[in-house]
Amino acid sequence: MTRQLFVTTALPYANGNFHIGHIMEYIQADIWVRYQRMMGSEVHFVCADDAHGAPIMIAAEKAGKTPQQFVADIAAGRKPYLEGFNIGFDNWHSTDGPENHELAQQIYRDLKAAGLIETRVIEQFFDIEKNMFLPDRFIKGECPKCHTKDQYGDNCESCGAVYSPTELINPYSALTGGTPVLRDSEHYFFKLSDPRCVEFLEQWTQASNERGQAHLQSEVYNKIKEWLLPNEEGKRDLGDWDISRDAPYFGIEIPDAPGKYFYVWLDAPIGYLASLKNRFVKLAGDAALGAQHYDAFMADPTTEQYHFIGKDIITFHTLFWPAMLHFSGRKTPNAIFVHGFLTINSEKMSKSRGTGLDPLKYLGLGMNPEWLRYYIAAKLNARNEDVEFSPEDFMARVNSDLVGKYINIASRAAGFIAKRFDGKLGEISDDGAALLTQLRIERVSIEQLYETRDYAKALRETMLLADRVNEYVDANKPWELAKQEGMETRLHDVCTVCIEAFAVLTTYLKPVLPTLAAQVEAFLGVQPLAFDNTSQALGTGHTIGNYKHLMQRVDIKQLEALFEAPANVEPAPAAAELTVPGGEEIAPTISIDDFAKIDLRIAKIVNCEAVEGSTKLLRLTLDVGEGKMRNVFSGIASAYKPEDLIGKLTVMVANLAPRKMKFGISEGMVLAASHADQKANPGLYVLEPFAGAQPGMRVG
Ligand code: MSP
Ligand code: ZN
Repeated sequence: MTRQLFVTTALPYANGNFHIGHIMEYIQADIWVRYQRMMGSEVHFVCADDAHGAPIMIAAEKAGKTPQQFVADIAAGRKPYLEGFNIGFDNWHSTDGPENHELAQQIYRDLKAAGLIETRVIEQFFDIEKNMFLPDRFIKGECPKCHTKDQYGDNCESCGAVYSPTELINPYSALTGGTPVLRDSEHYFFKLSDPRCVEFLEQWTQASNERGQAHLQSEVYNKIKEWLLPNEEGKRDLGDWDISRDAPYFGIEIPDAPGKYFYVWLDAPIGYLASLKNRFVKLAGDAALGAQHYDAFMADPTTEQYHFIGKDIITFHTLFWPAMLHFSGRKTPNAIFVHGFLTINSEKMSKSRGTGLDPLKYLGLGMNPEWLRYYIAAKLNARNEDVEFSPEDFMARVNSDLVGKYINIASRAAGFIAKRFDGKLGEISDDGAALLTQLRIERVSIEQLYETRDYAKALRETMLLADRVNEYVDANKPWELAKQEGMETRLHDVCTVCIEAFAVLTTYLKPVLPTLAAQVEAFLGVQPLAFDNTSQALGTGHTIGNYKHLMQRVDIKQLEALFEAPANVEPAPAAAELTVPGGEEIAPTISIDDFAKIDLRIAKIVNCEAVEGSTKLLRLTLDVGEGKMRNVFSGIASAYKPEDLIGKLTVMVANLAPRKMKFGISEGMVLAASHADQKANPGLYVLEPFAGAQPGMRVG
């Protein structure tokens, strides 16, 4: 039976162009989709711009555009990336499309009818200067769970906790820098704490789909179960989910609730459905008919639904989304496929520091998109693990494996076939047949590896097979056979084996290298290669075309150019960075008396140790010249090893009220510098005085 698949990638926020991390996700999904199509499945592979939310509204305002125009301009720039890297979405839509407005409102009504929507008056942060309730992303502070500083108001990027902004420690407005005040507002909640939801999610997150595959990867389940399952005190972290935002907001209006909008994360995943529906409407050429097809497709129990996402948005996709679907009477996903993050030279990507790999620059330099597809595939498996792009490794894998092992097979054989045998394939003797059998026998295992998204292994196995073929070529030396009298038939045989082998290997690589495979199909003069025709030889007498070199090697100069900062031009600081030093506004003015209240002292770090049970904190023992030691916890474990700090001088706030923390009492605070946006600009730098300062000296 033909499998019927609905596949998505996460919907990118429409507030910026794609970066290489997005492209990695799309390549991962695109390979899987191409594999499925080669297996004869019907696939609908869709995506959309995630248009809503306060950040986009605010960015549009800054750009002097309506949010609609702002989002449309971003959407208009998507094509060169997708076409450039052969990412074959069947549809690209927007969460602001009419289908999404309708579906989101309908799903909400269904959830309400199921008794899972509740309103509550809550206190929310309000920015007096801006005269608006502050969106979660514009309130920052310390994570209530792991105590990482400068976390957004909705979830912690360090530990993944989901919470409400009022739970943040020391909150501040990222719009104005001011301390927000609390105001009452009526909010709408999705009652995830309802026993029905809890029971459903406990079951769903651990269950497997009809194909015997778990809904969630085991490491993903392990991550979310801490939110889901009761802790030692029998309490669950997963509370009701606040799904409404007050005007002004760019989003979808909540039915019968004037001035209230759905929180962007409510309507964003519904955008998956909206994009699919929009595709059916386009295919049918008629809204009503398309809607009917969509309804039928989604009502069909054999339809399989898969979402590819990154590790930062697990909670939304593995808890909220399945619950929304289930309790609105809809089909739940068959699986969520979570991948890790792409890092470059072991660094998180940062545009401002030029460490990123600009996808359009890559294409503009004439670099082959299939090199990148190959390299990324060679590093991807089915686990939620980060993927490192290293230029040296990239060059080595492409040049020695892809070109050196695989392409080489064709280039070694095709010339002889054309020149000596009129382009016709010959007979194959036993040793060659045995080799081809070895190659063909691997088909099932390679299919399985694609199916389970272990592309790294699929490519490794394929390259091992290419090694076998190259050994066969080396043993038979066609270039010598060509010079020997009476070896004509053997030369024909050996070169024919190479071409047949090349066809099989190309099939195995086709999900990763679609353009190259199409060129090979044209050169070999064959129908589209598919897994189930690998067993069929091209056959004696089959005519192949003239071989033109199929793929260049990566030139080191290209890589140098790719990572080179733009010549002469200083890396253009984004407009926001010009006015917002270190990623946050200068705090409101204070008087010298205010400053004098803060007693800063030189402290000697006499001891420093890791804190058991915390990956963030270090415990410092400080000498401030008081004749006794101070115990201070500092969230700097990500940046320093204890031994790096012992014996050093630093600056501390000596008159901060002692604070009781999970691990003990902290008697002060050590000063460290960091950028407000730790995601884009990681790094943490403890202050150290010039030589000569002594413990206890006042800083001022
Ligand atoms: N708009 C939300 C998703 C809504 S889905 C209903 C969002 N957008 S995003 O643009 O920030 O991220 C889109 C996808 O890109 C996410 O799956 C995210 O994990 C992924 N990536 C972002 N940076 C990445 C890397 N550095 N590496 C790999 N994937 C990365 O989240
Ligand atoms: Zn945290």
